[in-house]
Amino acid sequence: MELIFATNNAHKISEVAATLDSRYHIVTLKECGITEDIPETHPTIEGNASQKSHYIYERTHRNCFADDTGLEVMALDGAPGVRSARYAGDRHDFDANNRLLLKNMEGKTDRRARFRTVISLILDGEEHLFEGVVEGRIIDHEVGTGGFGYDPMFVPDGYDRTFAEMTADEKNAISHRGRAVKKLAAYLQSIEK
Ligand code: IMP
Repeated sequence: MELIFATNNAHKISEVAATLDSRYHIVTLKECGITEDIPETHPTIEGNASQKSHYIYERTHRNCFADDTGLEVMALDGAPGVRSARYAGDRHDFDANNRLLLKNMEGKTDRRARFRTVISLILDGEEHLFEGVVEGRIIDHEVGTGGFGYDPMFVPDGYDRTFAEMTADEKNAISHRGRAVKKLAAYLQSIEK
């Protein structure tokens, strides 16, 4: 079964492909000729995931899914949250976002944070939502070269390494996106598509 994944992020594509059964073939936006940026203008993670999947469905009428993720930091009242991609401005610059987060966390003793992913699947025209959360903490410097985005500063609960120090398999097994994709996979299996 083919599913369009509404992202241009190669890291996300490989993370999701590693978790979904090989019976599901992920079709990229490039492969279906969609080259423009997909709007993400909702004030919530759920709203953005849904906006992205509907955008693709309206253009292709094919089964598709989109994810949206936010890093919610307790000491920053849940920021950057839904603005995680544009925290330091509209350029979607991972390094600038990380530098700003480190600066805003200076002197904070409460380091708790969580990643939250919502996946919106549109299957035969009907929408289904799946959520994945991982709790952890923000450290005061960047460590590791794996993953992407805020990974070098995020240490999940029960570990002493950042996501950027883990192998892709280790991250996938416990990550927000990994957990949301497992729920998506379980749903697909339950309806035996
Ligand atoms: P998106 O809108 O789902 O692409 O995610 C928003 C932002 O959250 C991205 O630009 C990244 O900075 C960050 N992000 C999303 N997923 C991850 C992850 O797995 N690790 C680290 N940062 C992430």
